Amino acid sequence: MKNENPMQPRKVFLEAFGCQMNVLDGELVLSDLSRKGYVVTDDVAAADLVVFNTCSVRQHAEQRVLSRLGQLKDRRARDPGFRIAVMGCMAQRQGEDLIRAAPQVDVVCGSQQFVRMFDLLSEVEETGRSVVALEQEGVSGQSRDVAVRPRPYQAFVGVMRGCHHRCSYCIVPRVRGGREQSRPVADVVDEVAKLAGDGVVEVILLGQNINSYGKSLSGRPNLPALLEAVHEVDGISRIRFITSNPMDLEVDLFKAMAELPKVMEYLHFPAQSGSDRVLKRMFRGYTRGRYLELAEKGREIVPGLSLATDFIVGFPGETDEDFEATIGLMERIRFEQTFVFKYSVRPGTRSSEWEDDVPGIVKKERNNRLLKVQERHSLMRNQGRIGRVFDVLVEGVSPKNPDRLTGRTRGNQIVAFPGSPCLAGQTVPVRVHRVTPLTLIGGLASGAPPR
Ligand code: 5AD
Ligand code: SF4
Repeated sequence: MKNENPMQPRKVFLEAFGCQMNVLDGELVLSDLSRKGYVVTDDVAAADLVVFNTCSVRQHAEQRVLSRLGQLKDRRARDPGFRIAVMGCMAQRQGEDLIRAAPQVDVVCGSQQFVRMFDLLSEVEETGRSVVALEQEGVSGQSRDVAVRPRPYQAFVGVMRGCHHRCSYCIVPRVRGGREQSRPVADVVDEVAKLAGDGVVEVILLGQNINSYGKSLSGRPNLPALLEAVHEVDGISRIRFITSNPMDLEVDLFKAMAELPKVMEYLHFPAQSGSDRVLKRMFRGYTRGRYLELAEKGREIVPGLSLATDFIVGFPGETDEDFEATIGLMERIRFEQTFVFKYSVRPGTRSSEWEDDVPGIVKKERNNRLLKVQERHSLMRNQGRIGRVFDVLVEGVSPKNPDRLTGRTRGNQIVAFPGSPCLAGQTVPVRVHRVTPLTLIGGLASGAPPR
């Protein structure tokens, strides 16, 4: 890529919208651009290149990107060296349409083509025209410079891409690929070992549908086998993995979680609804009964298992009775964490053919009610933790309070406590003194390293 002044590296600013799979792709782009001479900045005004890493799962996320693009329009017109790139699911979905709607965009690159970002930017310089790259096959896109990552002690590691399910509301298989592609175990282990060599202690293995990891590989290694292999890597003390859809979850996974001490007792396990009628129309492939059975088995086999979930409220045809069934499921399970989404029609999905008949106000009420129930459950769970000591992996100084450190328990609860910033990256015992629904507040327990 041409640089007006070779002494002055070009600066890139990345703004992310969406899920953790997206976050990882953004990290991979920054890693590649840094290798090729860019410097990452957190100041958008100073950037020569702004990359929007976009999400399509809900309409709202796309609207926010369009509005951000609008804000940069004048600057793109005024500054001949300034470039704008859009990557990720919205780029994949809209393609050329995005350039038509926002001609200030220089690069549109889809969910498999982001690895070519540098080359695409060079093409813009050579041709003076916008480029669109949307091919969905043939680019593995997962090699990375392990030294380039936003958090020193924690790293995301992509283990598979795509999703073979066809949940009726979901745009993911269209924009991220409907064929699952897993990375070989040896590749994942190699990357984790390199990350560990560079100071990472916690890895979060990512896959849209991670329970079906390995089905596309010869020998069909499964997720428990992958966890066992990653568990062998020296220097790694914590392993997490997301997302575990109920359709592909097998009890072997719980056994592996119970037997492998580095694997954290945390499962992101989206239910989406507690009503069989709704689950059926969502094409989720399990019933409320099966979901409950799996959750109970998990808690039985993995002591202290934290369950987090996603729910969609206001799915087409969702009645008050269906919604009450969701509340009932929450009361039965008492999740650690719940992410609630108001149903949003996505073009080309099966449910887009059905009337979006739950009024916005009802979606909002249902959304708020689920959040309220979750808040009550979170507070109750956290109150039961007062006085107990937890192993906390320290992430660093709290962004909200410079006198405190923050970290996470094995079950992914956030903990705040006073301590020296040099504890970052270490696992320390913390006794909980008081709690809020979202945070455990405490102090280093005796025997811990001094402040
Ligand atoms: N509308 C609302 N929420 C959705 N999700 C996926 N598709 C939609 C949609 N069309 C939610 C699901 C999924 C999470 C990542 O986003 O709950 O688990
Ligand atoms: Fe979408 Fe369903 Fe696949 Fe999740 S499992 S990514 S909701 S199609």
